Amino acid sequence: MRYLITGGCGFIGSHLAERLLDDGHAVLLLDDLSTGRFENVAHLEGRAGFAILVASVTEPATVDRCVAECQAVFHLASAVGVRLVVDQPVRTIETIVNGTDVVLRACARYRRPILLTSTSEVYGKSTKVPFVETDDTLIGPTTTRRWAYACAKALDEFLALAHWHESRLPVIVARLFNTVGPRQTGRYGMVIPRFVEQGLAGQPITVYGDGHQTRCFAHVADVVSALVALMDHPHSRGQVFNVGNSEEVSILELAHRVRSLTGGISPIRLVPYSEAYTAGFEDMLRRVPDLTKIRQLIGYQPSRSLDQILADVIAERCDPSRHPAPAPSSLEI
Ligand SMILES: NC(=O)c1ccc[n+]([C@@H]2O[C@H](COP(=O)([O-])OP(=O)(O)OC[C@H]3O[C@@H](n4cnc5c(N)ncnc54)[C@H](O)[C@@H]3O)[C@@H](O)[C@H]2O)c1
Repeated sequence: MRYLITGGCGFIGSHLAERLLDDGHAVLLLDDLSTGRFENVAHLEGRAGFAILVASVTEPATVDRCVAECQAVFHLASAVGVRLVVDQPVRTIETIVNGTDVVLRACARYRRPILLTSTSEVYGKSTKVPFVETDDTLIGPTTTRRWAYACAKALDEFLALAHWHESRLPVIVARLFNTVGPRQTGRYGMVIPRFVEQGLAGQPITVYGDGHQTRCFAHVADVVSALVALMDHPHSRGQVFNVGNSEEVSILELAHRVRSLTGGISPIRLVPYSEAYTAGFEDMLRRVPDLTKIRQLIGYQPSRSLDQILADVIAERCDPSRHPAPAPSSLEI
């Protein structure tokens, strides 16, 4: 099979590309390199069946050509990260909504199965624990920019499911909870890479709010296995699945763990949300996935603990061979 991976040079997309190549498939990565990096996939260049096209998912003619040349689509391209969403709200909304519309239309034209990565953010500020796929969403006001990401991703889900409803286009929605592992950048507000970088540099580890908010972190390898299995399963079509890990940790506890694993010298500093983001920033206290549905369909069981995730991220950050690779010699389909 040849798969199109939009956002394939990003953190999760690069691991997915590697996994599909290892399974003997071909991949075409469509990425505008906005938050993704060629370095994430440089080690794959030259492998049989590997190709990249640097372009945007908002370009209909390009997307049409890519979808026509592949048999199935993993649609990961998106503006990602709370920092980016707060700083660049127009780009966030346009990329998510317009890009997904373009990709879905092309998939509908060629009848290609498509798996779309959505986010646990769509549950909004609901305080329910754990979140089940059919739960109500509770999105904040439109005057609070951070909710644009959740709302745009929810609209993507509606649109994908509408294609399924109207024409039985094979769509799958994977609602990812916090996904972590090697190659994730801390630049856009992702907490674990940021903490690890601060800890290794001996700088203060900055915890936003009082640190009592909790999160559940899944290793990217577990998440990628789930995405592949969902794409392969005939009964996943037209459905939404939580994907993540239900092991819960408070952000303050996470900061302490990272500190002790990175030398133990960094002070832990609490930073008010209003200083970290903007006045009126809203955060969720807990965000725990109910994984019953995906477990029942594909037998999904995350196999890597938070300690393993932290060990992998720290090992990668300490590896001198991780220096940026040279720029690509050719970018082509
Ligand atoms: N990492 C997480 O914890 C997490 C959680 C929930 C959902 N997700 C979803 O998973 C997907 C992948 O996220 P990630 O963590 O790998 O982030 P990432 O930023 O590393 O990957 C996104 C990729 O999309 C590319 N992209 C952005 N706009 C584009 C455009 N207009 N055209 C083409 N490419 C474009 C970026 O360059 C990047 O390579 C996203 O859809 C995201 O919403 C991730």
